[in-house]
Amino acid sequence: MKANKTVYTCTECGYQSPKWLGRCPSCQSWNCFEEEKIVAEAKKNLRTLNSPSAAAHKSAAVAFSDMTLPQYMRSETGMGELDRVLGGGLVTGSVVLLAGEPGIGKSTLLTQICGTLGAVGRVLYVSGEESRSQIKLRAKRLGIDGGDLFVLTETDIDLICAEIDTLKPQTVIVDSIQTVSSEQFTSVPGSVTQVKEAASKLINKAKNDGISIIIVGHVNKEGSIAGPKVLEHMVDAVLYFEGERQNSYRLIRAVKNRFGSTNEIGVFEMTEEGLREVPNPSEMLLADRPKNVSGNCAVCVMEGTRPVIAEVQALVSQTAFPSPKRTSNGIDYNRLYLLLAVLEKRLGLRYSTQDVYMNVIGGLRLDEPAADLSIALSLISGLRDLPIPDDLIAVGEVGLAGECRAISNAEARVSEAARLGFTKIILPARSAEKLRIPDGVTIIPVRGLYDMAASKYVFPNAGDR
Ligand code: TYD
Ligand code: MG
Repeated sequence: MKANKTVYTCTECGYQSPKWLGRCPSCQSWNCFEEEKIVAEAKKNLRTLNSPSAAAHKSAAVAFSDMTLPQYMRSETGMGELDRVLGGGLVTGSVVLLAGEPGIGKSTLLTQICGTLGAVGRVLYVSGEESRSQIKLRAKRLGIDGGDLFVLTETDIDLICAEIDTLKPQTVIVDSIQTVSSEQFTSVPGSVTQVKEAASKLINKAKNDGISIIIVGHVNKEGSIAGPKVLEHMVDAVLYFEGERQNSYRLIRAVKNRFGSTNEIGVFEMTEEGLREVPNPSEMLLADRPKNVSGNCAVCVMEGTRPVIAEVQALVSQTAFPSPKRTSNGIDYNRLYLLLAVLEKRLGLRYSTQDVYMNVIGGLRLDEPAADLSIALSLISGLRDLPIPDDLIAVGEVGLAGECRAISNAEARVSEAARLGFTKIILPARSAEKLRIPDGVTIIPVRGLYDMAASKYVFPNAGDR
């Protein structure tokens, strides 16, 4: 018999080494190796692999032209916002990882979709975190009752797989992967080896039996803890559930999806009766907008196929430090530095003596270059302490020469802005050509930052100061 083996695994990235290391050669993290014992298993005998019966199962290459297109069968989850992020529903036989900080609402969301999924096929909810009565209590609160719904409170992966075999569900929810473990390894549940082992057994089940499996993974603020990061390449889709705990809004975004786009976001609000979908996020993001304040500017960004109106805020104030402070929430730092440099150089505005604090409302990230104009405009407005009219919105990319570059989906953005009551829309001149303009809307085409700052629409009260 072979002796049990000891390996050292990096808790950050899953790199394995036969001896302990101070620093991981793969992800360069310090002090992250954990000792794990692996119970030896008999190796597959090469002779049996070469036997005639094994040869019959050997995979053979297929001509590209003979391959057929896959037919994805999808089940709707009853939550339109989640279906949108999944690419139109949960694909049969796929494995989805739902990652998020503890307490963000993962169990709530999955309990809610059990209602709809349980009406079309059997659902097994495996919980390693909560007791049956706690699950029942939550389900009752969310109005989930009946349906072909089963609950299993178990943490041993082999027993979970055995129960899946007897129950033959169509959908399995595992809440959470950090609590599931295998007796084959001595390491604690939640360690890299345990998480990977449990996930690979579940993935095998999904692929062989055509079961859809949703795996819950906890992450902490830094996105570490063994779990989501090491699982990302194994599963079909990775969804991140985000939001501030003190704020009731929650966003779901896909960072990987083999069956759909990763651009879409889903927006929810946490209420007394569970998560409520927010099909019009712009209205939510603009709800508490301050009126007539300098440094604020609305922008329309594309989140996948959907235009969403957000608000950019810039606070510009005289610095008390030798080098001015810059903080940014929701906007890439490098983009902010670049836009500040363009404004200094092309418009002669002085930010080198000013602290700049940037913020995007609602936890949204503005990664699209089309947000440049609104960031620049809020910075100008903040510096000059002149408010921008509340019904003005700016969309466009800014180049290093201070020029405005065309953007995509101009028409969709304009109609969303018009729907929400914006009447003045700043657009790059080239995007404003041949545009269908909604009634009551004035399009202000600009060629560069200078055009924009000088426009009578942008700072109508500039003469008073
Ligand atoms: P939960 O779904 O258990 O979070 P996770 O599984 O991600 O750890 O619950 C998150 C929070 O949501 C919890 O603090 C209670 C709150 N909540 C509501 O506000 N309304 C509800 O209807 C439910 C079920 C929970
Ligand atoms: Mg939970």
